[in-house]
Amino acid sequence: MASRASLPVIDIAPYLDPCSTPAQRAATATAVDSACRDFGFFYLIGHGVPEELRQEMLRLGHEFFSLPQAEKDEISIFNSMDRVRGYARLGENVTSGKRDVLEGYDIYREYPNPSKDMLRGAQIWPSKPATLRSTVLEYVERLIPVGQALMRAMGDGLGIPNGAEAFEEIVRDPFWGLKFNGYPSLSTPDIAEQEKGISCGEHTDYGGLTFLLADDHIKSALEVEDKSGDWIKADPIPGAYVVNIGDMVNVLTSNRYTATVHRVIHRGSVPRVSIPFFFEPSFATMVKPLQGCAEGNVLPKASVNYYEHMCHMLYDGRFVESGKEVEKVLVNVISLKG
Ligand SMILES: [Fe+2]
Repeated sequence: MASRASLPVIDIAPYLDPCSTPAQRAATATAVDSACRDFGFFYLIGHGVPEELRQEMLRLGHEFFSLPQAEKDEISIFNSMDRVRGYARLGENVTSGKRDVLEGYDIYREYPNPSKDMLRGAQIWPSKPATLRSTVLEYVERLIPVGQALMRAMGDGLGIPNGAEAFEEIVRDPFWGLKFNGYPSLSTPDIAEQEKGISCGEHTDYGGLTFLLADDHIKSALEVEDKSGDWIKADPIPGAYVVNIGDMVNVLTSNRYTATVHRVIHRGSVPRVSIPFFFEPSFATMVKPLQGCAEGNVLPKASVNYYEHMCHMLYDGRFVESGKEVEKVLVNVISLKG
């Protein structure tokens, strides 16, 4: 049963407006701190991303998923250089060992000289919709400074020496990912009976911050587990992002802030599109507890090589040397709620 609690709303504008006052920024930082401690999830307003651009992203998502299967398969993830970019058919995404009832199109930041190395490949783009590539790249450019501003607010909210600077440093040259999710109604006849209960299984996000954009008119899809184990509905609020913190924030803050479990059950009768933007640390970051957070029940020597962590999570450990497994275990331990 979902509880009646609702997620807090955070206005990030004071951290984006150079004319804001210290008091305005302090109010935002305090609100961010409470939201991160109490929920790990919140609505974000004051981000400055134009509503027309947000709606165009959703429209492009619907247009792409409406293409014939063969056209979508042309950019299959299995054809990408590094095997993580591109289109995945319904049922090819797996969460906690169970097939998700969604189709997806995954985009990641590209680096110069793409190769087959993990997460270093070239992005593959669909030929239709023709404007998808340019629109996505414009959208990402708009969101990166919002992510950086929110990281500064989180650092300030912790109330530790140089917290904002430490958070800012981690995302100075951020990696990022963006995914188009296409959720059919769970009552669609071609979904196997045993897969019908849930659209995307319970999980936490792996990295830094997630900014979720989803169809405004579709309710009761995303659910967030609160501290008492109840499920809170995270229905869209027009103009706002649903933001959540990922596992790397647990490490940074020694679990003062913890990534929250969430899931999707798309009960509606029409297709739903959601577009999470994953705002991430730089590849080279060694994520470790910040000075001032490392006290109490922190695990000793807890640190995570961000790039290796993401390779573990996205490639399921298949291509990582066995000696590196220790870090995956460590992340999982740290990620335990509280
Ligand atoms: Fe997620």
